[in-house]
Amino acid sequence: MRDARSEMPPLERLLVTGGCGFIGSHFVRLALRRPRTRLVVNLDALTYAGNPENLRDVEGDPRYRFAKGSVCDAERVDALVREGVDAIVHFAAESHVDRSLYGPVDFVRTNLEGTSVLLEAARRAGLRRFLQVSTDEVYGSLPREGRFRETTPLHPNNPYSTTKAAADLMVGAYVRTFGIDAVVTRSSNNYGPHQHPEKFIPLFISNALQDKPCPLYGDGMHVRDWLHVEDNARGIWAALAKGKGGRVYNLGGGNERPNLEVARAILRLLRKPESLVAFVQDRPGHDRRYAIDCSRARRDLGWTPRVSFERGLRDTVAWYRANPGWVERVRSGAYREYYARQYGDALRAAAGMPAASRETTPVRRRRT
Ligand code: NAD
Ligand code: DAU
Repeated sequence: MRDARSEMPPLERLLVTGGCGFIGSHFVRLALRRPRTRLVVNLDALTYAGNPENLRDVEGDPRYRFAKGSVCDAERVDALVREGVDAIVHFAAESHVDRSLYGPVDFVRTNLEGTSVLLEAARRAGLRRFLQVSTDEVYGSLPREGRFRETTPLHPNNPYSTTKAAADLMVGAYVRTFGIDAVVTRSSNNYGPHQHPEKFIPLFISNALQDKPCPLYGDGMHVRDWLHVEDNARGIWAALAKGKGGRVYNLGGGNERPNLEVARAILRLLRKPESLVAFVQDRPGHDRRYAIDCSRARRDLGWTPRVSFERGLRDTVAWYRANPGWVERVRSGAYREYYARQYGDALRAAAGMPAASRETTPVRRRRT
């Protein structure tokens, strides 16, 4: 297995999957800023989470090409790989934990089967590198103390993280069995511009901007380690270019915050009252705390996060405030149905109103 990245010629032609999503779009933009990049093919199925608007600014770049299609479509993937790519950078996924509680099988298909299809294409074509974009959620939940290291045993708790862990294991199997050169990054929670408002930070910003209640699960004391999306994109780039084949790299922001603290910070930045926080029924299987030890990435890749949480959150709030049209387009149609199913009864209960559906949602009500 190769381990001397510096001896390898640069990876100039990339097949990126899921590039129209949140992190993938930031990565595509970063890749096109690098002078050695000659081609970025973006294979994206444009699910509800895929938004071509996220890459409007690079559409005119002759080195960029969009290919609509699924990572589960082996023929399509093979055809793209045969066009001559050096590496696959794999972001495409069903990425939202709450949705995985309603439809786990879609997550198995995209996250496990899709990754397997890509690995098989990489193996057959003898690609120089496969980069699997994974998550700290594969490690499960932490008590008050400790941090996830790359050697922490996998202990996923929800269907989303279980399919990501299964995909990571498949990557490992391809490394050991077939000798492919693959690297895995596992990052903590990302935030920043262009994140779908189904996720915590953009949901709270966009609801608060419209003076709507912000649904906080459980006691609001679950801890996440926030990483700015541009720092993650730089970390993925560094792992792609310099990571050792077969290795996993944790990427974290070093910004552990309880959700309630993040919610308050958002409301302060927007000058909105804390009474907008609505404590609702907890997420089933809700992981209590994530925290990342990313000393390996610092040491091996020379990577370190640069964006402070205070600056990153301020800029993110400013971006959502300046882009109401982007938010409105994302929130239309099917999102409304999702929102009603996910939050309708819970928010009604938090407001002391009866449930609209037959199933009554139990909630804990609390003052902030
Ligand atoms: P996202 O939901 O914003 O975007 C996912 C993208 O994948 C969309 O463009 C969607 O259209 C595309 N996609 C979905 N199914 C597809 C399929 N079958 N074929 C091709 N494209 C498909 O996701 P994100 O938040 O940008 O996450 C990207 C990756 O990073 C995921 O693998 C996720 O597990 C991982 N990750 C995310 C975070 C986070 O905080 N968001 C943290 C760690 C890891
Ligand atoms: O840790 C990395 C993971 O981070 C990624 O792998 C996932 O793709 C990404 O979605 C994210 O998962 P989380 O479940 O941590 O993110 P989410 O934004 O859904 O929730 C963040 C925290 O906020 C979590 O503790 C649940 C809470 N939350 C979330 C929502 C959507 C609420 O309190 N209310 C909400 O409405």
